[in-house]
Amino acid sequence: MKTLSKFFLLAGVAALCSCTSGHNTSDKSTTGQASSEQSASGAVSSEQGSNGQTAQSEQVIKTIMSRRSIRKYRNTPVESEKLEQILNCGINAPSGMNKQSWEVRVINSQKLLSEIDSTYAEFMKANNGVSANVKPAAYGAPTLIFIAHDTAYDLSQVDCGLLGANIILSAQSMGLGTCCLGGIVRFMNSPQASSLLKRLELPEGYNLLYAIALGYPDESPAAKARKTEKIKFIE
Ligand SMILES: Cc1cc2nc3c(=O)[nH]c(=O)nc-3n(C[C@H](O)[C@H](O)[C@H](O)COP(=O)(O)O)c2cc1C
Repeated sequence: MKTLSKFFLLAGVAALCSCTSGHNTSDKSTTGQASSEQSASGAVSSEQGSNGQTAQSEQVIKTIMSRRSIRKYRNTPVESEKLEQILNCGINAPSGMNKQSWEVRVINSQKLLSEIDSTYAEFMKANNGVSANVKPAAYGAPTLIFIAHDTAYDLSQVDCGLLGANIILSAQSMGLGTCCLGGIVRFMNSPQASSLLKRLELPEGYNLLYAIALGYPDESPAAKARKTEKIKFIE
């Protein structure tokens, strides 16, 4: 078994060096269909650079490596075309037996977000001993996406995680920031939030799994250390 610390150090430096901007303005479609740059098999064709990576793969790696959880957002709404494309990327994630065993609820209404925030503040004060200055539930992001899983399907949480990764990374490629929110589910499942949960109109058998805050970032947090020793090659 070998650990990959050196490999990741070099790969990380290479990926960071390739970062010139966090934005990808090459999005051409809001339908989620393959672009004309893709072959019939879906493979993206492009010229290979001297380091062996195509411009497209460099862009993908840059998007992945530059993503950080954002906990401070600008007060700018997410454009509906971008949101539509991000959600389309989400539902184009792989899913077990193509069950697409997720339910996605998007909240853009600032009125509803304020309602969530005020109920969340009450909940935190009552249950978590937070006395004042409770941060907004979605850190002030203008869009909050709830993701629910099918409790009757054992791999549904995998489906939902992959859906979220597509949402997060496509958002990142458009200059948008995100933060996964697991803690918000405890709140949404609390008696205080029962009427908010009802408004999500989840079908029978679906439970909230997590949420994603989405909006234009107002901070640039540094990357946290990664445990490269958790990856081992088995020979
Ligand atoms: C399943 C899951 C639940 C999370 N829940 C929260 C949360 O409730 N609040 C929060 O601020 N961040 C939450 N995060 C974000 C993590 O704290 C963050 O991804 C981690 O610290 C690594 O930092 P990075 O995303 O900037 O690389 C969650 C992430 C995941 C994947």
